[in-house]
Amino acid sequence: MNKSCFQRGVNTLIAGSFFVVGYALAADANQAAVSRGQALHADKCATCHAEKSGLGDGNVLYLRSDKKATNLKQLEGMVARCNSELRLDLFPEDEADVVAFLHKNFYKFKKH
Ligand code: HEC
Repeated sequence: MNKSCFQRGVNTLIAGSFFVVGYALAADANQAAVSRGQALHADKCATCHAEKSGLGDGNVLYLRSDKKATNLKQLEGMVARCNSELRLDLFPEDEADVVAFLHKNFYKFKKH
């Protein structure tokens, strides 16, 4: 193995480990967002949805066959609508966390 080949190998190895670490951090960050979103949702959203659905379980809103949100954009829109119309005072990053939670647990859209 000549020197430049060795160097390339090292570079690839270094780049590869950055990729793995970066990936793990991104997954962690997403899990943290989902957990924050879950707490916010329980605090601000679940009770009203449970009452409005009349079933005592607010999650049916997200799972019904005629649900309003059928892609990620619409889900962001519905979260923003409930947040602003009802003056729930979520910051944009809170909204994003709630969207992450709803997406992961209920909507599970295939692509953005
Ligand atoms: C005071 C009552 C109330 C509160 C609080 C509330 N919502 Fe809603 N939300 C509703 C109602 C009513 C609907 C159904 C609207 C419809 O069917 O047109 C709804 C629908 C939704 C939907 C669409 C569901 C679907 O059909 O796909 C989402 C998403 C949603 N809300 C998110 C939230 C989030 C996130 C929060 C908390 C930050 C929240 N809502 C707080 C009343 C509320």
